[in-house]
Amino acid sequence: MNAGPPSDRPPSRFTSSLTSDFIWGVSTSSYQIEGAANEDGRGPSIWDTYSRLPGKIAGGDTGDIACDHYHRYREDVALMQKLGVDAYRFSVAWPRVLPEGRGAVNEAGLAFYDRLIDALIAAGIEPWLCLYHWDLPQGLQDDGGWTNRDCAQWFADYASVIARRYGDRVKRFATFNEPSVFTLFGYSLGGQAPGIVDRAMLLRAIHHMNLGHGAAIDRLREAVAGASLGAIHNCQPCRPATEKPEDRAAADMLDAYWNGAFPDPQLRGVYPPLLAEAMAPYLKPDDLAQICRPVDWFGLNHYSPHYVVASDRNPLGLWFGSAPADVPRSSMGWPVEPDAFREILTAMHKRYGLPIYVTENGTAHADKPQPNGEVPDEPRISYLKAYTDAMFDAIADGVDVRGYFVWSLLDNFEWGSGYSQRFGLVYMDYPTLRRLPKASFRWFGDLIKTHSASRVPTV
Ligand code: FCB
Repeated sequence: MNAGPPSDRPPSRFTSSLTSDFIWGVSTSSYQIEGAANEDGRGPSIWDTYSRLPGKIAGGDTGDIACDHYHRYREDVALMQKLGVDAYRFSVAWPRVLPEGRGAVNEAGLAFYDRLIDALIAAGIEPWLCLYHWDLPQGLQDDGGWTNRDCAQWFADYASVIARRYGDRVKRFATFNEPSVFTLFGYSLGGQAPGIVDRAMLLRAIHHMNLGHGAAIDRLREAVAGASLGAIHNCQPCRPATEKPEDRAAADMLDAYWNGAFPDPQLRGVYPPLLAEAMAPYLKPDDLAQICRPVDWFGLNHYSPHYVVASDRNPLGLWFGSAPADVPRSSMGWPVEPDAFREILTAMHKRYGLPIYVTENGTAHADKPQPNGEVPDEPRISYLKAYTDAMFDAIADGVDVRGYFVWSLLDNFEWGSGYSQRFGLVYMDYPTLRRLPKASFRWFGDLIKTHSASRVPTV
């Protein structure tokens, strides 16, 4: 942690071996930053509902105001331009554009993303649009949400609305962000909307999201000329926390759910062997072919490995144990282990053979602004340096990584942790909504510049 100010450091290891089309970016999501929850016709999402349940979110926080990005997006685009990113991954709030989730579109909601997309393009930043970052319209949840097989078609219809509206300017689309996280926590492990604890519901939700993915890929492909399509998966090595056989079995089971339940059917047309029997009752004959549609890239989000124990506290029979005592942790308590990043990049490259974009990586830290407005965040710089170095090592080993997006541009609403955890390159002073770039903002900007100066032309 004593590495000195960013400018005194040697440049990161393998920047010069990246090709000129390598994409540097930042990621955010709608509910976590937009605010304006009740403005311009936006309908409620399951996160509006869930965050109002007593005791679910630290500090009783909600996304009602968040970073007020809905009104301050120009300032945020200007920050990105200053940072020097090539691309920005954001998500569309489904209930902002279709307040009930289906049926009537909300022109004012659609117009917001027009403004955002146009501002990005004017700033020379490529928009990467993710259709679903967890904020399902509450109206659809009232009809069963993802546990209703029809939800796959509702999602595909929403994808068509988005493709037709923005497909002239946006070419990069992701269907889902981290479907494993949303389904596992939302339907069995607890802590996320819609707050259901039921394994059968979980299995149905998994399968219907996969059907929604396949149907949306077809719609996007059909409507957007030159589209570049993918899905975004959270991939983490699942290690047993002890040598006990039951903990090993629990780690294997979590691996099947977490790392396999979505990419395996989407990219290989099968459910992981450990889940195949459980999924069978929900499959109709042609389903796997409908789910497994050709995509162009693999979006990989990674933060840390899991240490897993057997447990009877939930219907899956597993829980999260402790990392070895000498492993450092972030303020979220997540282990900081850059080797696990290299390991999972290599594993996903071998398993699926698609070009990989790292669509989220970053860390939380209890940042404090100084009286002069500077925000020192050396632990975040150390994390990002170690993790980008691990990625450069993977690339040197032959892993086809084409881009890297930091989570996140801004501190934001961190789900169950509310505003208590800060992941941003930019500090949010929530009472005033002032944005203060942190030291890591400069560090990441320098990394992008160093790389740009030594770009190797692609052949
Ligand atoms: C990921 C989520 C993202 C954010 C980061 C810290 O799992 O995709 O919204 O919460 O974790």
